[in-house]
Amino acid sequence: MAVRTAICDLLGVDHPVGNAGMAGVAQPRLCAAVAEAGGIGTVAMASASATEVTEGVAAVKALTARPFSVNFITWLIENDSSPLDAALEAGAASITLSFGDPAPFVDRVHSAGAQLLSQVQSVAAARRSAEVGVDAIIAQGHEAGGHTGVVPLLPFLPQVVDAVGDIPVLAAGGIGDGRGLAAVLMLGAQGALMGTRFVVSEEAESIWPRLPDQVLAASADDSVWTTAFDIVGGGGRSLWPEGIGARSIRTPWVDRWSGHEDELVQRLSDDSTSDDDEGYDSTPAYAGPIAGMLTHREPAAQIVTSVIADASHVLDSSRRWLTE
Ligand SMILES: Cc1cc2nc3c(=O)[nH]c(=O)nc-3n(C[C@H](O)[C@H](O)[C@H](O)COP(=O)(O)O)c2cc1C
Repeated sequence: MAVRTAICDLLGVDHPVGNAGMAGVAQPRLCAAVAEAGGIGTVAMASASATEVTEGVAAVKALTARPFSVNFITWLIENDSSPLDAALEAGAASITLSFGDPAPFVDRVHSAGAQLLSQVQSVAAARRSAEVGVDAIIAQGHEAGGHTGVVPLLPFLPQVVDAVGDIPVLAAGGIGDGRGLAAVLMLGAQGALMGTRFVVSEEAESIWPRLPDQVLAASADDSVWTTAFDIVGGGGRSLWPEGIGARSIRTPWVDRWSGHEDELVQRLSDDSTSDDDEGYDSTPAYAGPIAGMLTHREPAAQIVTSVIADASHVLDSSRRWLTE
């Protein structure tokens, strides 16, 4: 049985599942592979320049004629939105914004004939996105790999669904297979985006070469949410919105600094020391606890197909645990 929801018609895709925007990982090859498989393909453009965005969108278009989304980190394009303009000009079918207010961008995206998706980490942000007229909302739970907020998906998702009326909601964070997709559909979502699962797709080209192996080696309890990476990134103060941190697989550096973020701020305010003078490697391993269920790399198309087949099976047999 096909698993189709209204989000499929809205985004012009066959399946209500796809790859999340992942800076450094969701590059043109992965986006195109997911889109070609009929899923929601996303190419991440975090801090790319307008020229890089133009080239990136063209690279996806060279590989697929299917629609796909271009993901930006909202607060990074607040002062210079030329990268978003470049994506629209290059013909992006939709834009995904995360970590900031989408309001300044709604009209521009719609006048280009594109859809706007807003990834949110609080119910207030979901309401705001709905009020300003985005086309779909991505409710991102604390389980998510990479940057995320503090509310877990299970209580968060139904509250977002209730808060935004008729606007379709996608779920993200801790979804790794068809059971996860079926579960979020039960909670009122119209589909799901997966990040960590696609980190180990064959098409993922990570700027952190060790990341896929770190994900495959990780157990469910090996990921940690911390603001430590962003304190270092901001030179002693996180520049990310309040309540946002990043989830990474544990490394010696993560073990050293998670839970000691105040000490890190203190240390960076002292010019003579830095976070790495103890010899640790501060490279992040952004991924969530769903890593614990991932055992091998496989083509992105196979991930899309198997998640849909398994979700269909779970939905068909959803009464199997019930007794008379
Ligand atoms: C390696 C990595 C990089 C990420 N980078 C971004 C990003 O650039 N923009 C964004 O909106 N979200 C980013 N995220 C979060 C994802 O969009 C998504 O919400 C998350 O991966 C979903 O949780 P999951 O990893 O458990 O599937 C990133 C996640 C990962 C794992």
